[in-house]
Amino acid sequence: MVRVLLTGGAGFIGSHTALALLEAGHSPLIVDDLSNAHPDSISRIAQISGVAIPALIVDVRDEAAVSGFLQEHGPVDAVIHLAGLKAVGESVAQPERYYDVNIGSTLALLRVMKKHEIHNLVFSSSATVYGASENVPHAEDAHVGHGISNPYGKTKHMIEEILRDVSAADEQLRITALRYFNPVGAHPSGLIGEDPRGVPNNLMPIVARVASGALDSVVVFGDDYPTSDGTGVRDYIHVQDLAQGHVRAAERALPGFEAINLGTGVPASVLDVIREYGAAAGLNIPYRVAKRRPGDIAVSYADVSKARAVLDWQAKRTLADACRDDWAWQQNGAKLRQA
Ligand code: UFG
Repeated sequence: MVRVLLTGGAGFIGSHTALALLEAGHSPLIVDDLSNAHPDSISRIAQISGVAIPALIVDVRDEAAVSGFLQEHGPVDAVIHLAGLKAVGESVAQPERYYDVNIGSTLALLRVMKKHEIHNLVFSSSATVYGASENVPHAEDAHVGHGISNPYGKTKHMIEEILRDVSAADEQLRITALRYFNPVGAHPSGLIGEDPRGVPNNLMPIVARVASGALDSVVVFGDDYPTSDGTGVRDYIHVQDLAQGHVRAAERALPGFEAINLGTGVPASVLDVIREYGAAAGLNIPYRVAKRRPGDIAVSYADVSKARAVLDWQAKRTLADACRDDWAWQQNGAKLRQA
């Protein structure tokens, strides 16, 4: 049994990770300031699992509060650090805030870990560190950090560099940076899922809003890429698979610093996503083609061999599974929101 401090545990990936930790017999504690979480997500985790996870509602940079929480509910063996800001466009408009929150929270946690003698850290990195490279599938030993087009992505790369240095200075540390590809889907209960505030940025939440009638049509950003159907190609990974990858990383606690891709290795285009979602919802989803979105690349998908070899983990769910579960969440979650 691994006792885990899970920051960002009320968010989209965090809430699924909390459930996956419980299912695997581990014991999580949650820290989250609820700044970008569904207000009911912690009670929904309890509803699904039957376990009320101790939760501290605070910014992770409040070291005294996090430390006091660990004194009260700890000790823990590992930290899974998911708290952070993640909107690409917002990061361009508010770079100081992104550097402050994402890097500041990681440094604060490292100090708390030292104080409480916690040596195992799993960090939420991103395939964004591969930058403008289209040398696919992306493998972890590729050169990273070139052509990252926004401050959000740069914070992920900078934090990986910080963690690499910190681990080199302390041989007791075991740090794994998980490079997520495109997380999608929801818990099959329909009780938790992604719930972006305002107009969503990412493809699947937008397709979901079109399917549920809140938006008229999906705007496809470019159909002149050198891909099978001309639209952008990504690696969409079901959030439950992603969550299980975190569990495996916390269990394995690999020595030193390791970066590991969490993706499916299966490329899918924008039109594939629209088609699969339409099939799941039993609808024809309207779309129109517009020009390319600045900063986008044509193709990104994961080389999944390292995750398989060192974590004994691989994604089990398909894009169709993710669309089905997301659609259940849209219908159920939307009703719950209005209740
Ligand atoms: N797309 C559309 N229309 C939309 C939204 C997206 O056609 O309304 C297309 C994009 O052009 C892209 C694909 O759908 O081809 C996926 O776009 P997303 O915005 O969903 O995801 P990205 O791959 O651009 O970004 C994701 C994460 C970021 C991360 C980045 C790189 O959201 O956090 O991957 O790893 F930085």
